[in-house]
This record gives sequence, C-alpha cells and structure tokens, in this order.
Amino acid sequence: MALFSIRPMTEADVPAVILVENQIYEFPWTDRNFLDSLRAGYHMHCMWLDEQLAGYIVMMHVVDEYHLLNISIRADLQGLGHGKHLLQWGIGQAKLANATGMLLEVRPSNVTAKNLYEKEGFKLIGARKNYYPSQLGREDALVMFKRFTG
Ligand SMILES: CC(C)(COP(=O)(O)OP(=O)(O)OC[C@H]1O[C@@H](n2cnc3c(N)ncnc32)[C@H](O)[C@@H]1OP(=O)(O)O)[C@@H](O)C(=O)NCCC(=O)NCCS
Repeated sequence: MALFSIRPMTEADVPAVILVENQIYEFPWTDRNFLDSLRAGYHMHCMWLDEQLAGYIVMMHVVDEYHLLNISIRADLQGLGHGKHLLQWGIGQAKLANATGMLLEVRPSNVTAKNLYEKEGFKLIGARKNYYPSQLGREDALVMFKRFTG
C-alpha cells in the first residue's frame, strides 16, 4: 500500500520542489521564491508518496486569514484526488490556527484549479487586473475566498 505523509518543507526539499514546479507551470516559482518564502516563515509543506515528492502547498497567515500561494501536484499524479486532499489538509491547518477564512488567486484559464476550489467551497469575490504573466502579455487573476463557519 502507498505510504503518504505531509511534512514541513525544508531548504533541502527545494531542488525536488523545483523539478515539479518547472514540470507543471509555464511561469514557475524560482528556487529563490521558495527559499525566501521559507525564510519569511510561510506555512510550507510537502506531500510525499512512498518518499517521492508528490506535491506541496504554500500558505501565508495574514492577520486572521490564510492566503493560499501555491498548491501543486506532480504531473503524473494529477487527477487522482491528491490536490483535493492537500487543499483540505491546508484548510484544516488554517482552521487549527483560528483563521476565519482562506483567500487565493487563480488564473481564469486554469479550469482544473478553479473546479477544485469551487468544489471546496471557495466563492469568487473579485479579480486582479494583469496579475499573472502570460504568453499574450498579462492575464487577470480571479480572487476566491472561503469563509470558515465553525
Ligand atoms: C490544480 C491541482 C493542484 C489539482 O490537483 P489534482 O490532484 O490534479 O486534482 P484532484 O484529482 O484532487 O481533483 C480535484 C478536483 O479538481 C477538478 N479536476 C481535476 N482534474 C480535472 C481536469 N482534468 N479537468 C477539470 N477539472 C479537474 C475536479 O473538480 C476535481 O474534483 P472531482 O474529482 O470531485 O470532480 C493540480 O492539477 C496541479 O498541480 N495543477 C498544476 C498546478 C496548478 O495549476 N496549481 C494551482 C495554481 S492556482
């Protein structure tokens, strides 16, 4: 049986994280982005499947809310429920920290992620103009929020 675990990301994990990041994003975070985020004390965890990196989640605690900055699943493991599991775990962590909700940005073109967030109860609350780099210049971000109710 496959052995799953979710553990805090360390600097030693960053090279493996970057391999996945480069594999799945057209505009990936750099190792500097991950190292700076670790040093800034963001909530960063890796999900391991049989000790191979399966995915990771980066969240930032801002006042009384959690901000989801990155959630990623290795390409060959996508569509199997792991993203949903990792997001639900992150929501659980935010609730344990007494956050009142979770905020995120998503590209309108990222149908998979949008579906995931909607299914987990995130509501569209706005947009940020020209937020992401894209092949056509810039792409807006949709802003979604999930309020925790107890
Ligand atoms: C987005 C991501 C984290 C989702 O994780 P995943 O393990 O692939 O998704 P899951 O198998 O847990 O599916 C969760 C939900 O996403 C949606 N979904 C999954 N695959 C999909 C697909 N190919 N097309 C459309 N929706 C899809 C479904 O709503 C699904 O729920 P359901 O199975 O109950 O219908 C993952 O695909 C990923 O890492 N993508 C690349 C990086 C990325 O875009 N990250 C998010 C940035 S905002």
